[in-house]
Amino acid sequence: MSCAFGLCLAVPLLVCCVSPGVAASWWSMGAAGSSRVMCDNVPGLVSRQRRLCQRHPEAMRSIGLGVAQWTAECQHQFRQHRWNCSAPHRERSLFGRVLQRSSRESAFVYAISSAGVVFAVTRACSQGELKSCSCDPKKKGSAKDNKGQFDWGGCSDNIDYGVKFASAFVDAKERMEKDARALMNLHNNRAGRKAVKRFLKQECKCHGVSGSCTLRTCWLAMADFRKTGDYLWRKYNGAIQVVMNQDGTGFTVANKRFKKPTNNDLVYFESSPDYCIRDRDVGSLGTAGRVCNQTSRGMDSCEVMCCGRGYDTSRISRMTKCECKFHWCCAVRCQDCLEVVDVHTCKAPKTAGWITQT
Ligand SMILES: *[C@@H]1O[C@H](CO)[C@@H](O)[C@H](O)[C@H]1NC(C)=O
Ligand SMILES: *[C@@H]1O[C@H](CO)[C@@H](O)[C@H](O)[C@H]1NC(C)=O
Repeated sequence: MSCAFGLCLAVPLLVCCVSPGVAASWWSMGAAGSSRVMCDNVPGLVSRQRRLCQRHPEAMRSIGLGVAQWTAECQHQFRQHRWNCSAPHRERSLFGRVLQRSSRESAFVYAISSAGVVFAVTRACSQGELKSCSCDPKKKGSAKDNKGQFDWGGCSDNIDYGVKFASAFVDAKERMEKDARALMNLHNNRAGRKAVKRFLKQECKCHGVSGSCTLRTCWLAMADFRKTGDYLWRKYNGAIQVVMNQDGTGFTVANKRFKKPTNNDLVYFESSPDYCIRDRDVGSLGTAGRVCNQTSRGMDSCEVMCCGRGYDTSRISRMTKCECKFHWCCAVRCQDCLEVVDVHTCKAPKTAGWITQT
């Protein structure tokens, strides 16, 4: 153990006071506020994470802000599903509860959160917000691709730094625990980090005689985080159920008919609850009151979303922008129109008096 700047003195004290709680995780950094993250006040950091926090306060700020981005991405991907990745503030533990189960939802959340850290730290490097990193120093000089020679220029995203930092910070907790669940989390964390790296793209600017592009300057940039979200969403849908192998060092696929997971695949142990009714024990909020789509045949259809309980329809009117016209130059002017639409919301289960209706 390295003891930089006497920080190790403080560590044992801190360890004792972290409740081994349900939602205790670096995820709560999103709630710690962006202006100043106080490493000692973030619940659920393990000592190694706390040390990184103290040594890299600006990186922690980026990670904290990143929590909002990856939770929003998670909610976007799950918007049409019974479980919608929401973590209501009143019931912060619920997000933690659902993730206690080793389900595919957990696999997704671990992957996207770890991807989110890579993205946030890498971007902060490029924007010069971190003392410990900058643009990718390896992307210097000239190189060649199928369109010919070019110069590396500008600021290439330093994804290797982002991946390294994310791995050190995010994996710290699981590296201390050698059980099956830790192994599952580590696998999905890594899949998340790799996903971001997949969407690095080379961007170039042409110089030379009017668009001839004989001279180019290129740099590597991360694609929009949505790309990572969409990719991990496909991996969620194809997630592979596994069991620990005999010697406890890896996984074997639970059903021999399915393929062996690669490092890019998400893995999980337990099947998911149906998330139909509110059940604190499994972290399900239920779907009572959720908006469903009467004409859809997918997961957001009223049949599926409401779990066959039926739905209520209410007619609402709302103002929308309409008859928009383009005025030369350059404005778009619209009218306000009153639109009447039917909104369908799932009924609550009949027997469950403990559903709170608002
Ligand atoms: C997600 O689900 C919860 C509980 O069913 C609901 O209260 C919330 O409004 C939903 N969020 C979105 C964005 O649909
Ligand atoms: C409902 O589902 C249909 C068919 O998938 C789709 O075209 C429509 O846009 C959806 N409506 C809403 C309000 O999402």
